[in-house]
Amino acid sequence: MEEKIEQLKAQAVEAIQKAAGSLSELDDIRVKFLGKKGEFTSILRGMGTLAKEDRPKVGKIVNEAKAQIEALIQQKNEELKARDLEKILSTERIDVTLPGRTVPLGHLHPLTLTLERIKDIFFRMSFSVEEGPEIEKDYYNFEALNLPKDHPARDMQDSFYITEDILMRSQTSPVQARTMEKNEPNAPIRMIAPGRVYRRDEYDATHSPMFTQVEGLVIDEGISFADLKGTLELFLHQIFNADVGVRFRPSFFPFTEPSAEVDISCVMCQGKGCRVCKGTGWLEILGSGMVHPHVLEMSGYDPQKVSGFAFGMGVERIAMLAYGIDDLRLFYDNDMRFLQQF
Ligand code: DAH
Repeated sequence: MEEKIEQLKAQAVEAIQKAAGSLSELDDIRVKFLGKKGEFTSILRGMGTLAKEDRPKVGKIVNEAKAQIEALIQQKNEELKARDLEKILSTERIDVTLPGRTVPLGHLHPLTLTLERIKDIFFRMSFSVEEGPEIEKDYYNFEALNLPKDHPARDMQDSFYITEDILMRSQTSPVQARTMEKNEPNAPIRMIAPGRVYRRDEYDATHSPMFTQVEGLVIDEGISFADLKGTLELFLHQIFNADVGVRFRPSFFPFTEPSAEVDISCVMCQGKGCRVCKGTGWLEILGSGMVHPHVLEMSGYDPQKVSGFAFGMGVERIAMLAYGIDDLRLFYDNDMRFLQQF
């Protein structure tokens, strides 16, 4: 019996030493000799057939042999692991001196850049930014701005209706009423409201059914047309240049009275007259006016106590003039050759 154990042990040792291949080969050896159905286990199981006095001795030898084999397997296991790691380290070594792959960095869209410049100028005059929804109630888009249903001035803005009472906003002016409603009655306001607006329109060099506006609203005690003129002149001199000509032309908007359209001297020909200004020397740049008393009233403000002015401008138009871009569609086409120039 002892001899048989010695033999088995020798076999196991030899197998372990030869197991140069892989960790799984080593595991097979462990199962074969030490596993539940392994050689040594079956010897221990067969101990019942031995004479009683031999059992402790044989048991001890078997257990010692098992322990030795176990230790050898452990040692071999570590050797093989180290060898595998060595192999990985030598074959998968990375060359840290290779130049990295550059991740191309984007930049702001020309419309966003223009909007940032507009905001910046108004921030310096203590304006805040208000936002309103692009899907708007007919009430805010028209009615609260003195354009009741069937008012002929609605025809100027051919709109996308979703239901009878809900539409894609055709202007940023609804944010005027929303801001007044949000405030305590007669609380001073000095805000701009940038955002997208929608009108049924052609899509060509100068028209798009979607474009960007910036609304402005100032309300306080004693606000006059002089404040309107001063603020807008200052703005236009900063966004274009200090010697651009600015003129105010009487106009009509249902929500302002009096109303004025504001022109700048043509930035292409400096007022001499060219194709861009159609020979007039002037470019229409924004709409404005003193907030109509009824508009104040409808939103809970008292026209006896406060007055205000409002204005609205198209961001695409300002960007086109500021950068000398002659086709509006370039802003929306996402052509990298265009966008990379900013
Ligand atoms: N909402 C007008 C438009 O889209 C622009 C406008 C004109 C806004 C006069 C104003 C304003 O606030 O006072 O045509």
